[in-house]
Amino acid sequence: MAKILKGKGQGPLFIALIKYWGNIDNDLRIPRNDNLAINLDFIGTDTNVSFSPGFKEDRVVVNGKALEREKKLRVIRVVDIMRKRAKINWPVHIFSENHIPTASGIGSSASSFSDLVVAINKALKLNLTKKELSLMARLGSGSAARAIPSGFVLLPGNCSQSEAYARTLFPPSYWPLSIFIIILSDAQKHTLTTQGHLGASTSPLYKERQWGLKERLKEIIKTIRDKDIWRLGRLLEAEALSLHANIMSQSPPIFYWSPRTFRFVKDLVDYREKEGYPIFWTIDAGENLFLLTVPDYEDVVKTFISRHPEVKKYYLTHPGKGPR
Ligand code: DP6
Repeated sequence: MAKILKGKGQGPLFIALIKYWGNIDNDLRIPRNDNLAINLDFIGTDTNVSFSPGFKEDRVVVNGKALEREKKLRVIRVVDIMRKRAKINWPVHIFSENHIPTASGIGSSASSFSDLVVAINKALKLNLTKKELSLMARLGSGSAARAIPSGFVLLPGNCSQSEAYARTLFPPSYWPLSIFIIILSDAQKHTLTTQGHLGASTSPLYKERQWGLKERLKEIIKTIRDKDIWRLGRLLEAEALSLHANIMSQSPPIFYWSPRTFRFVKDLVDYREKEGYPIFWTIDAGENLFLLTVPDYEDVVKTFISRHPEVKKYYLTHPGKGPR
């Protein structure tokens, strides 16, 4: 029987505090700006890989369906780099299951590329460091690089290829925040993030956004250090609005918010301002959202969400480790 090498990986979701939008190198996915996220104790994707000289060709199956050509090539590019490193040319079979709606703005590509490199690392016994895994995951999806280390993580931007890997700033236990993943719809987004990054700098707001980000990053790191939920929450929302102002004003414009998103955010903000509870929202490239609060307010948030007519499903999670 032909030899077979197998490995498994499980990739986390994250909440992005300073968003990454626009690359200085689109092929190498080097972000334009330093960006910051919390990796969550929530597995977004499970991936199983096997390599064998007995396989006829490379196969990539996600949620039971073979990936279409373009998407498959994106995956195989990362596989090829790792095969080369292991000095092996055996075909690969990859089976991935997303536990969250795919391409709906909650980070399925980041979790799948982070667990892909972890699974291949195990299968091919490469013994790569976290730094090397982060550098490799980035070639599949920029934010996947950020999904490798644990806790509160920084991915530098506007730097050389070898510096663009994520580092932990604070471990997950530093501040056990409560993060809700809010699913308003499981429809796939109309414009993929990779496409969106290409047009980022065409927005008249782009330069100003980049300029302001340096200060916002410093402030956000300070609010984490001080465990100041009110200040962090206000900055988180300002950052999400700045990101989407850029996205909506780039050429061509992209509208990730749906009427459901607007309604939910407005109701949440009204509720918070009326009750004085520290509950904050953020949104990435899709109509779904994340909420941030502290454990004392988890029950209040659960009640709000379960009564809101736009919410299809939600998950409660906390800061966590990188992929397993
Ligand atoms: C809006 O990592 O999804 O979520 O390299 O094309 O996969 P690709 O880009 P991606 O970009 C992240 C965009 C964002 C903001 C963020 O996560 O920081």
